[in-house]
Amino acid sequence: MNFKTSPFLFFFVLFISICCFLTVTSGCLIKNWTVSITSEIPNDIVVHIKSTDHDLGDHTISAHGIYTWQFCSKLVGTHFTGDFSWGSRHQSLALMDAKISRYCNKRLVGDDECYWLVKPNGFYVSFNNASFPWDWAKKKSW
Ligand SMILES: *[C@@H]1O[C@H](CO)[C@@H](O)[C@H](O)[C@H]1NC(C)=O
Ligand SMILES: *[C@@H]1O[C@H](CO)[C@@H](O)[C@H](O)[C@H]1NC(C)=O
Repeated sequence: MNFKTSPFLFFFVLFISICCFLTVTSGCLIKNWTVSITSEIPNDIVVHIKSTDHDLGDHTISAHGIYTWQFCSKLVGTHFTGDFSWGSRHQSLALMDAKISRYCNKRLVGDDECYWLVKPNGFYVSFNNASFPWDWAKKKSW
C-alpha cells in the first residue's frame, strides 16, 4: 500500500500529523507545571519571579493570598527564582529547579503542581498542599 493508491491513508496520516503538531504547540511537550505561592505573612509581601527565559515581574501577595503561574518544563534547565520582600526583610530562593521538580514530581508527563507556603519563620514547599506541617519541607528562613 502506498499514498498514491490510497488517498484515504494519505489524509489519515496528514490528519494525525496535524493533531500531533497542535498538541505540541498548544500544550506542553513534557510537563505543564502549576506553581503557587501562598502567603501566611500578616502584611503584604512582594515577590519578583523570573527564570532564564521569562521575567514574571513583581507580585504583591496579601495575607492568605495566593499567586499562581504555569509553565512548560524544559528537558533540562528549568529554573525559577523568587526575590521576596517583607518590609525591610529580603530573601531569594529557587522556586523551581531540578531538585524541587523531583520533589514535586507526581506524574511522568502532563500536568503537575508545586506549592509554596511563606510563613514568618520561612519558606516551605509541598507536592500536595496537605494541611501544614504534613509534607511541607522547609527550604529557607527569612
Ligand atoms: C497548563 O495548564 C493550565 C491549567 O490546566 C492551562 O490553563 C494552560 O493553558 C496550560 N498550559 C499549556 C501550555 O498547555
Ligand atoms: C491549599 O489548600 C488550602 C486548604 O485546603 C486551600 O485553601 C488552598 O486554596 C490550596 N492552595 C492551592 C494553591 O490550591
